[in-house]
Formats: sequence, C-alpha cells, structure tokens
Amino acid sequence: MAKMWAGLTSGITDRVADDFNSSISFDSRMYRQDITGSIAHAAMLSAQGIISVQDKEQLTEGLLSILEDIDGGALQIDPLSEDIHMFVEQELTKRIGDTGKKLHTARSRNDQVALDLRMYLRDEMAEVKKLLKALVKALYGQAKAHKSSIMPGYTHLQRAQPVTFGHHLLAYCMMLIRDAGRFEDALKRMDVSPIGCCALAGTTYDTDREMEAKALGFSSVALNSMDGVSDRDYCLELMSAMSILMMHLSRLSEELILWCSWEFKFVTLSDGYTTGSSIMPQKKNPDMAELIRGKTGRVYGDLMGLLTTLKGLPLAYNKDMQEDKECIFDALDTVKACLQVAAPMIETMSVHEDNMFSAAQKGFINATDLADYLVKKGLPFRSAYKISGEIVAKCMADDQVLETLPLEVYKTFSPVFDGDLYKEIDLRTCVEKRISQGGTSLRSVEMQLVYVEEFLKDD
Ligand code: ARG
Repeated sequence: MAKMWAGLTSGITDRVADDFNSSISFDSRMYRQDITGSIAHAAMLSAQGIISVQDKEQLTEGLLSILEDIDGGALQIDPLSEDIHMFVEQELTKRIGDTGKKLHTARSRNDQVALDLRMYLRDEMAEVKKLLKALVKALYGQAKAHKSSIMPGYTHLQRAQPVTFGHHLLAYCMMLIRDAGRFEDALKRMDVSPIGCCALAGTTYDTDREMEAKALGFSSVALNSMDGVSDRDYCLELMSAMSILMMHLSRLSEELILWCSWEFKFVTLSDGYTTGSSIMPQKKNPDMAELIRGKTGRVYGDLMGLLTTLKGLPLAYNKDMQEDKECIFDALDTVKACLQVAAPMIETMSVHEDNMFSAAQKGFINATDLADYLVKKGLPFRSAYKISGEIVAKCMADDQVLETLPLEVYKTFSPVFDGDLYKEIDLRTCVEKRISQGGTSLRSVEMQLVYVEEFLKDD
C-alpha cells in the first residue's frame, strides 16, 4: 500500500526499508499521549476557526473511540504502520472519512512526536517518583529500626570508625532524595510544549499554541520552533539523572552483596529476593542486587547512545532522532524494574546486629577515640596518634583488642592512661560522642530521620 505521504514519490517502499524505517514496535506505547494531543489540536484548530466545530466534534469522537478500542483490546495496533502517529491518523480516516485528513493541519509529525514524548515521559516520571519514594521509605524503615545498631564504618573498605547501621542506610536516603530533586529539575525544564512548531519554521495558520499547551498541561511553549522540534535535552537530562540514580542503587547493591556474604553476614536477604544454585546446595545468591548493579551499565549505555546520536545532527529534525525513544524507554523501564525490586528487598532483609557488633570490635575502630583520650589528657594530637598506633600494633601482635588490654600495659606507653580510658573507648561511647550535625550519634541520626520523614510526606 502507498504511504500517506505518497505524492512526489509513489510512496511504495521496499519491505526491508519499511521494516528498517518503522518505529511502531517501540513508539506504540505513546498511543494515549498521541490521541490526547490530537484531541487538543482539533480543539485549537476549531477555536481559531481553522476547522469547523462540526469537524472538531467528529475528530474528537473518532479519536476517543480509537483510544477506547485500544485500551479495551478491540483495536490492535498494526505492526506494519510506519509509526504510532500514522497509525492513529489512518485509523481515524478509516472511521470518520475525509474529515480525518484535516487533523494534520498546522502541525507536523516533527512537533507531534516531540509533544508525545514529553507527555509520555511526564506520565512515566510520576510513576518513577512514586517508586523512588517507596525505596526511600524502605531504607528509612530499616534505618529507624537500627538507629542504634553499631557496625564498623569503612574507608578504603578497611574498618575505620564505628557507625550505626541506621546512619549508614540514611546516607543512601540522602542520595535518593537528591535523585528525586534532579528529576524535579529536569521535569521543570521539560514542561514546555513543542506543538505548533510544525515541521521546523512555524505555520501560516493563525494557531494558538498557548491554548493547546495549556489544554495539555504545559506551563509554556517552545519559543523557537526550530529548537522545539530538535530539542531532546530533556531525554538526556532525565537519563543523566537516571544514571546517577542507578549509580547509587549499584553502590547500595554492592554493599548488600558484601553484607550477605559469609565473610560479613551483616544481613540476610529474604528468600523472595534471592536464588539458589543449580549445583551447590549451600548457596543463597543475591541475584537481584547483582542485576541492579549490572543493569546500571545498561542505563549509562542508553545515555551515551543518545548523546552520540545527537552530537552531529544539523538543525532541525533528522530521522536519526527516532533513535531517542529506544534509549529513553529502555532506561526508564530498567530504572522502574530496579526500583520495584529494590524496595521490598530492603524492606524484607533481616539485619544481624550481633555480627555487626562483633565485626566492629575486631578492627581497632576506636583507635581514633583512644588518641582523642590522650589529647584530652593534654598530649598534642600527633603524639597521641603515634602512641595509639603503637598500642594497636602491640595488640595486633598479641592478638588482643583495645577494650581488654590491661591498664598496666597502657601505662607502659604513657603515664597519663587511667581507668577511665575503658569507658572512652567503648564502642557505644564512641558512637554517642559523635554528636556533630550529620554524625552517627543517636541524636544526630534522629535529626536525619526527621529530614527523610519530611521528604516522605511532601507530595
Ligand atoms: N517516527 C518518527 C520519530 O520517531 C516520527 C517523526 C517523523 N518525522 C519525519 N519527518 N519523518 O522520530
């Protein structure tokens, strides 16, 4: 069959070229936005006297019936159509006759696809925001339940200073709250309607772009028609924010994978979010966390793919830009799937406070506090640091820990040591003394919990 754009050419294309050119397999998911956009377009055309009220009514009715039939399954989207825009228009003309052909007045597929994509992403991002919130909530729940559970805090993956598990998980809440903020920022810039830019240069019809934008829920219209049809920054911004979010999820996953290894055993993931091995009966594998870590690379790839596609394009629309959708849709689907599995995985994991505490006792993570003790007794920090280091070395050699090293031994390193030192280097004291803002003490952690609560309730 000849294409709808037959005219200059026969509109008969080779089957291989058709398949290659077609985007229906991936853009049909925007059918709702395409139809909603068209209804607003018909309303604007009629309000401006470009088409009659009767035409508008016919178009609207036809479009609504298509929407209803796709939603209800009575109408299958034809996989042989070039794209979703062509499919809807063809179906409309099939249903209401020649009036259907008036819909495409004062627009082009270039501004139409730009509109559909913005509307689709706006709808999908509302879902992403909900899922992100659910994950923050799961982390918050575990953080609150373990706000006093002591674990080793690490730098260089070496035991460094004691922290609480709640404090550790709240760090991830902070990251995810920033991710939500980045999505908000990107969505604000995306909130601009491209419809009415037409192919590239605008139109000679007396259109009302503001009216159409408002009807579709946009705050403003693209101020330059060439930019309006060429801009895909919003896809890149969203994918950048998604990449950063995935990086955070990947770091969290990596920690979960470590924590549920036998070497750590800080947590056990629930059966629902682990798998067994087909050969090793003792295995409980953190596949979900590993997949989140793995899929991070895929989202980065989507971002790099579109950046690369766009980099050499002259203004305005080029068919290369059809490639935008597979990148952004894949990133979106991946992020949603990862968030969906991460929240219940966190929520249902069990935390082994005893294992965390005993790991915290083995790494001399109170050595800083030992040095601080000497400083309080009047030694300069550098000397205190050196003495503490020597004491740690002795403990290591004798397979001892600071908590139980006898006072006589301490006194051989410095006469200022006294019985009060044991209280000072008790891990609970080390945590409780870190009352600085953002620190690991209960008081500081509770302030962080309040901040996360604010985020969770604001909508
Ligand atoms: N399927 C096309 C896309 O996704 C729609 C726009 C086509 N415009 C054109 N001038 N061929 O980019």
